[in-house]
Amino acid sequence: MAKHEHLAKSMALPPITPQPNVYPLSWHAHTKKLEDIWDAAQRENWDPKKLPWDTFDASKYSWEEREAIAYWWTILSVFDASAPPVFAAAFIKTYEAHEEDPVRRCFFSVTRDEQNHEQVCGLAITKMLEHPDPLTYVPKTEIGRKAQRNAHWLYYNGGRYWNGYKNAVPKYSLAVLFSSFLMGEIAAATIFHQMAAKCTEPVFKEAFRNIGRDEGRHMAICLSLMERDYPKMDLSDKALITKQVRAGFLFLSGVLFEPPEDFWDIPADFVAWQREIETVARNAGFFVPEYEAKKENWKSAMLNLKGVLDKYGIPFPAIPEVGITGEEIRDVDMVDIIPVF
Ligand SMILES: [Fe+2]
Ligand SMILES: [Fe+2]
Repeated sequence: MAKHEHLAKSMALPPITPQPNVYPLSWHAHTKKLEDIWDAAQRENWDPKKLPWDTFDASKYSWEEREAIAYWWTILSVFDASAPPVFAAAFIKTYEAHEEDPVRRCFFSVTRDEQNHEQVCGLAITKMLEHPDPLTYVPKTEIGRKAQRNAHWLYYNGGRYWNGYKNAVPKYSLAVLFSSFLMGEIAAATIFHQMAAKCTEPVFKEAFRNIGRDEGRHMAICLSLMERDYPKMDLSDKALITKQVRAGFLFLSGVLFEPPEDFWDIPADFVAWQREIETVARNAGFFVPEYEAKKENWKSAMLNLKGVLDKYGIPFPAIPEVGITGEEIRDVDMVDIIPVF
């Protein structure tokens, strides 16, 4: 390689640095709301290790119950364990785009929060199974065997999503990414508030409360950015968002509702087994909403999102699974989607 030319010998100032370049040398701040959210994130930061784990005794549950509860945490992990790298990639993009300073910090806070959420999943699973990995754990009961087979399929599908996401980040504008993130945050805030309200195990209750509060902030970040950017958005981005919302519904149904078989590559008895496992968890005091309640919750979350998108004239997709009419979107694949928790 040729030695780098010393421009400084012949120029008073260096040439302009080509953009996008990963670092801004500026700290512009235009959106006060984002500064407030960052301050809240600093105040509300918490440590998963400091939850009241001393009140928790896994041995009071039977092995069936432990494996069933660990299964629910495993489903959650399929979404939450990809969230730190997903937001880390979006965080880098805010630097490349020379986003204003509070936007960069907000995305940093989301990345950190999601890392906390992932830690909670790991702590809960490890204590329940006495093993740090639901895929290599040796099941002790029939429920555990069913849970593990399903977990393998969930993990396989989640891996397909990650490959799609890596391609999507450089391709889409931050505006499109925000609406997809909002979808995930609305879903997450919904589920954690429900879990926190009805869960009987103190340590899980507190974890859900903290996670739900974080997800509420993440939602507020997306909403503030939409408020800032959507009034001047490209028309072509609107169609893309409609498609992303449909894709996000199908993907997030895996945790909020039940994974639809034409989108999720899963065995025919996957849902039946999952219902059986969830019944065991529910009877052990670990609240998982039943089918009708999940459907209602998911529907109202989607209607909330519709209310936001309507304001900006972005068509909402038809979601017949929960009885919402709208634009028909076909041929959505796991590799096309962005939403995360
Ligand atoms: Fe999360
Ligand atoms: Fe989140």
